[in-house]
Amino acid sequence: MHPSNRDSVTRFHIGSDHGGVTLRRVLVDLLQASGHQVASITGPEGATESVDYPDVAVAVCRRVVDDPGALGLLVCGSGQGMAMTANRLPGIRAALLADVASARLAREHNDANVICLGERVLGVEVAKELLHAFLRASFQGGRHQRRVDKVMAAGEG
Ligand code: RB5
Repeated sequence: MHPSNRDSVTRFHIGSDHGGVTLRRVLVDLLQASGHQVASITGPEGATESVDYPDVAVAVCRRVVDDPGALGLLVCGSGQGMAMTANRLPGIRAALLADVASARLAREHNDANVICLGERVLGVEVAKELLHAFLRASFQGGRHQRRVDKVMAAGEG
């Protein structure tokens, strides 16, 4: 997964709970080996150290908001709790990646700045492919920017 012209070097803030720590480690290694930057890692050292996924999601999303251009990568058992928490934070557009088409569209149409994966529901190779599909894609702007702006304004006022 070496960054190509379309797949530019990206800086990541990464986190997991105990349910996602094994996949988190695999993806950290993969991203670093691929030339991407891992700016921070949040979460337990191993799967036996139980933590609450919202604490990790909030910490990682705050880093993403404070670091323009960076992406967040969150892993828990299903990915659901991370995505639900992340999407409550202003400035975050979190996508739960489950298939290659929606992984691509989460970037092309929705300009997601946080991606969430579920270790207990995905095989490692599938998770890698989803991450790759997202990174290969580019935000298409245009009408999608207008819609993203409306997403970000939803719930305000
Ligand atoms: C932890 O047991 C589990 O609930 C968590 O990893 C995640 O799947 C929550 O959405």
